[in-house]
Amino acid sequence: MFHFPSWTLTVRDMGGAVLLVAPLYIVGLVAFGASPKTTDVGYQPDQPIEFSHALHAGQLGMDCRYCHNTVEKAAHAAVPPAATCMNCHAGIKTQSPKLQLLRDTYENGEPIAWQRVHDLPDYAYFDHSAHVTRGIGCASCHGRIDKMEKVWQEHPLSMGWCLDCHRNPEDHLRPLDQITNMTWAPENQREIGLEIKAKLNIAPSQNCSTCHR
Ligand code: HEC
Ligand code: HEC
Ligand code: HEC
Ligand code: HEC
Ligand code: HEC
Repeated sequence: MFHFPSWTLTVRDMGGAVLLVAPLYIVGLVAFGASPKTTDVGYQPDQPIEFSHALHAGQLGMDCRYCHNTVEKAAHAAVPPAATCMNCHAGIKTQSPKLQLLRDTYENGEPIAWQRVHDLPDYAYFDHSAHVTRGIGCASCHGRIDKMEKVWQEHPLSMGWCLDCHRNPEDHLRPLDQITNMTWAPENQREIGLEIKAKLNIAPSQNCSTCHR
C-alpha cells in the first residue's frame, strides 16, 4: 500500500535514472519523513516574549543582520541572545512587564525559550549563507517579516518549493546590497535576475545529494 505523494512527479521529471537508483532511499525517507510542521504554511507559535518584528524591523527600521548576525557566514541564522536586546532595553522601557522575562534571563544567564517557527526535517540540508551571499533575499523565503507582530511561516518549505526556485532563480535574484530589503520589487525582475545570474555565475543544484547528505 505505497501511496505516492505529489513530489514524485517532480522526481520523475528529473529522469528515470534517478528513480532506478533511488527507490530504497525514497522508501526510507518516506518512512521517516513527512514532518507535518515543515509544510505548515501559517504556523505561528506563541513566543515567551511578545517580540514584534513589525516594531523592530518595520517601524524602527533595524536591519535583520543586527540580530541574525550569522546569516551571511553560516548555515543557521542565529537568534539573538538577551544581551543583544539589552543593548537597548537596559535603557528603554526598563519597567515594562512585557520585558520582565528578558531582564530575568539576562541576569540568570539562561537562554530565552524561543519557539521555532521554521524547521525542516533532519534529512533535508539547508544553508543560509549559500543563499544570502548569492542574491536571494530574506523576503523571498520568509515573506514580509517587517509586518509581522508574531512570526509565521509564509511558504511551504517543501521540496517542490525549493526546486521551483533552483530551476528558475532569475525570478528571485536581487543585488547583494538588497538582501534584507523587505520592499524590493522591481518591475523588470526577470531582466535583473538574468543579469545577476550571468554575472555571479549562479547555477543552483538539483542533485539529491545537495539537500540530502
Ligand atoms: C531586534 C532583533 C531582531 C531583528 C532586527 C530581526 N529579528 Fe528576526 N527574530 C528575532 C528574535 C528574538 C526571534 C525569535 C522570536 C520570534 O520568532 O519572534 C526572531 C525570529 C525570526 C524568524 C523565525 C525563526 C524561526 O524560528 O523559524 C525569522 C524568519 C526572522 N526572525 C527573520 C527576520 C528578518 C527577515 C528580519 C529583518 C527584516 C529580522 N528577523 C529582524 C530578533 C530579530
Ligand atoms: C535598537 C534598539 C532595540 C533593540 C536592540 C531591541 N529593542 Fe525592543 N524596543 C525598542 C524600542 C525603541 C521599543 C519601543 C519603545 C516604546 O514603545 O516607546 C521596543 C519595544 C519592545 C517591546 C515592547 C515593550 C512594551 O512595553 O511595549 C518588547 C517586548 C521588546 N521591545 C522586546 C525586545 C527583544 C526581545 C529584543 C531582542 C531580541 C529587543 N526588543 C531588541 C528598541 C530595541
Ligand atoms: C532560500 C530561502 C531562505 C532565505 C533566502 C532565508 N531563509 Fe531563513 N530559513 C529558511 C529555511 C528553509 C529555514 C529552516 C531551516 C532548517 O530548519 O534547517 C530558515 C530558518 C530561519 C531562522 C531560524 C533559525 C535557523 O537557521 O533555522 C531564522 C532566524 C531565519 N531563517 C532568518 C533569516 C534571515 C534574517 C534571512 C535573510 C538575511 C533569511 N532567513 C533568508 C529559508 C530561507
Ligand atoms: C528563492 C530561491 C531559492 C529557494 C526558495 C531555495 N533556494 Fe537553495 N539556492 C538558491 C540559489 C540561487 C543558490 C546558489 C546557487 C549558486 O551559488 O550557484 C542556492 C543554493 C543552495 C544550496 C547550496 C548548494 C551548494 O552548492 O553548496 C543548498 C544546500 C540549497 N540551496 C538548499 C535549498 C533548500 C533545502 C531549499 C528549500 C528548503 C532551498 N534551497 C530553497 C535559490 C533558492
Ligand atoms: C533543493 C533541495 C532539494 C533537492 C535538490 C532534493 N530535495 Fe528532496 N527534499 C527537500 C526538502 C526540503 C524536503 C522536505 C520537504 C518537507 O518536509 O515537506 C525533501 C523531502 C524529500 C523526501 C521525503 C518526502 C516526503 O513526503 O516526506 C524524499 C523521498 C526526497 N526528498 C527525495 C529526493 C530525491 C530522490 C532527490 C533527487 C532527485 C531530491 N529529494 C532532491 C529538498 C530537496
